[in-house]
Amino acid sequence: MDTKIVKISRYRPQKKKIGQAAEIIRRAGLVAFPTETVYGLGANALDRRAVAKIFKAKKRPVDDPLIVHIADLKDLKRLAKDFPCRVRMLAEKFWPGPLTVILKKNPLVPREVTAGLDSVAIRMPGHPIALELIRAAGVSIAAPSANLFGQTSPISAAHVANDLCGRIDMIIDGGKTRVGVESTVLDMTGKSPVILRPGGIPLEEIRKVLPEARLFPSEKKPAKIERMKSPGMHYRHYAPRAEMVLIEGDSDKVADKMAELAEKYLSEGRKVGILASKETAKLCPSAARRTVLGKRGNFSTIARNLFKMIRELDRKGIDIILAEGFPEKGLGAAVMNRLRRAAGKRISAR
Ligand code: TXA
Ligand code: MG
Repeated sequence: MDTKIVKISRYRPQKKKIGQAAEIIRRAGLVAFPTETVYGLGANALDRRAVAKIFKAKKRPVDDPLIVHIADLKDLKRLAKDFPCRVRMLAEKFWPGPLTVILKKNPLVPREVTAGLDSVAIRMPGHPIALELIRAAGVSIAAPSANLFGQTSPISAAHVANDLCGRIDMIIDGGKTRVGVESTVLDMTGKSPVILRPGGIPLEEIRKVLPEARLFPSEKKPAKIERMKSPGMHYRHYAPRAEMVLIEGDSDKVADKMAELAEKYLSEGRKVGILASKETAKLCPSAARRTVLGKRGNFSTIARNLFKMIRELDRKGIDIILAEGFPEKGLGAAVMNRLRRAAGKRISAR
């Protein structure tokens, strides 16, 4: 398949180009497009044939449900059984934006989208190209992140092309994404709201609207129980080719441990990559490939750089990546969730 790559301005999305992409969606094709979090791989959410193509292109297991993207609240009313007051409050505060809500689904939503669950994940993305595409297509768009299954999510069109060129109809190049990690997935089907995946909207922000919101208990130690709530979440994600070790603990101790381990692996003749804050990277031996995520505590920068740098280290043929653990405050929780899923090994620095 020939994959067309089309540049579209995020500031003034060109109508004609958006129209071409929308036509592909209407004809059951696949279009990768930017959102504010990561690039999505979109298909008409109500066309099971189109949705099936997403799983094939990504090599994604079919038991991992998709998020349906909408541009208007009236679409939520079609997709979900009800529109509780609490969800209305969330939508008012966070949409368009990096929040996905899980609601009981209407029969209209094909089982291919929800992996047979009776709930559906819905979000209104905060990106002009995504919103224009949904409007022009005239349908809701089901879209997972536009990467091959198990890879880090793409934050640029080049990342998408790297994984999916030749497998999908079109890639819209709208530049780098702003947030860099995926949306927060919030389950609203139970008595109290539960975050199944920390993401672009931190728990602290959600609690300002719904104080009873909490993190899914197994978030810290991914366990079997996760499988039942959110089928996709038991898979090891974002796995780089290199071995990855995540070092958690007090930042000073983490930095010391990282420098010590880097020396050790270098002396064994291994190619070492460092994935850390500016402050920590500085303390590591310069013979290691040091990638700086951002200043300590600046989680929005760290989140934005995370996937890009994991991909970069992988391209450089690193044998072992030493990654810095961060406090789980604000966006730090989303960053740590991704790091834990990427790392084969976690150690705590003492
Ligand atoms: O920011 C994002 O969320 C990006 C952009 C493209 O919107 N999308 C994204 O999709 O990250 P994906 O497919 O990579 O992750 C969706 C997550 C999966 O972990 C899936 O298991 C969960 O949402 N999910 C989807 N539907 C669900 C449902 N009905 N119940 C529980 N979890 C669900
Ligand atoms: Mg994904």
